Amino acid sequence: MLITRKLLEEGLSDLRDIADLDIWEEDAPIPREELLRRIADKDALISLLSDRIDRDVIDRAKGLKVIGNYAVGFDNVDVEHATSKGIPVLNTPSVLTEATADLTFALLMAAARRIAEGERLVRSGAFNSWGPTLLLGKDVWGATLGVVGAGKIGTAVLRRGKGFGMRLLYHSKPRNEEVEKELGAMYVPLEELLGSSDFVTLNVPLTAETRHLIGEKELAMMKRDAILINTSRGPVVDENALSKALTERRIQAAALDVYEEEPKVHPWLLSIQNVVLAPHIGSATVTARTNMAKLVASGVAAVLKGERPGNVVNPDVFKKGSDGR
Ligand code: GLV
Ligand code: GLV
Repeated sequence: MLITRKLLEEGLSDLRDIADLDIWEEDAPIPREELLRRIADKDALISLLSDRIDRDVIDRAKGLKVIGNYAVGFDNVDVEHATSKGIPVLNTPSVLTEATADLTFALLMAAARRIAEGERLVRSGAFNSWGPTLLLGKDVWGATLGVVGAGKIGTAVLRRGKGFGMRLLYHSKPRNEEVEKELGAMYVPLEELLGSSDFVTLNVPLTAETRHLIGEKELAMMKRDAILINTSRGPVVDENALSKALTERRIQAAALDVYEEEPKVHPWLLSIQNVVLAPHIGSATVTARTNMAKLVASGVAAVLKGERPGNVVNPDVFKKGSDGR
């Protein structure tokens, strides 16, 4: 089995009994050539969201039986090609839902109350006195929250919004009646959500449909004092358009955990003050990362033992006749 980065030991220990592990031990992503070289003779792969598992990688491994992606998102994997070859692709849903919703809210609060700007001010030595107009921000309590994508994470963000007395709007495909019943969230078209929300959070997976879901046109629909938060995938937002909107103050602020060309950050964003920048740490808690490691390990082990795990993103591969499995 090839594992493209050292995972938390809790996950690895279960695997040592069932496979020889070839682990990329360096504290940096596995280079493309190494990935192509090492995958060739492997039965199983555990990959990170930063590894591009495309047709070339999948075809290189003639005996590949399973791909376990250590993430809930799987836009980095050519799932269609894996499916055509009968290879199950696993992800790590549920175990990182609350951690990612917490980070979404942390970024929302940080942008609303200008915490990153304040931190820079204090560290620079320029905090000279309490001031009636020093770093005035925006109220979270009672504001309108618009969640785009009411899956597990979006729902968990809405739940936090309820705790902050917010009016809850959401847009999702399909519509999610549970959040309407449980939280009183209101389903609205995207245009209406953008036009009515004080805070817009993006919680959709990256697909052909959600690429650049938020561009110049959508940013122009937002309120001038609105704040955009993205903890999903960078390409959901057109970073050029966002940088422009922030510079021209067409929206108040943004908070990002993900970037279009990760780990590169748009140079404009680096020079703008009204954007909070985090290094893709949505699921980065000890509990979430431990449970992700356990989940991906147990799923991959199950497939190797001929069992069927629950976290398969292409369950069609288990249908009778697809490849005789
Ligand atoms: C993180 O971004 C994940 O998809 O798990
Ligand atoms: C602020 O610190 C206040 O006491 O109002």
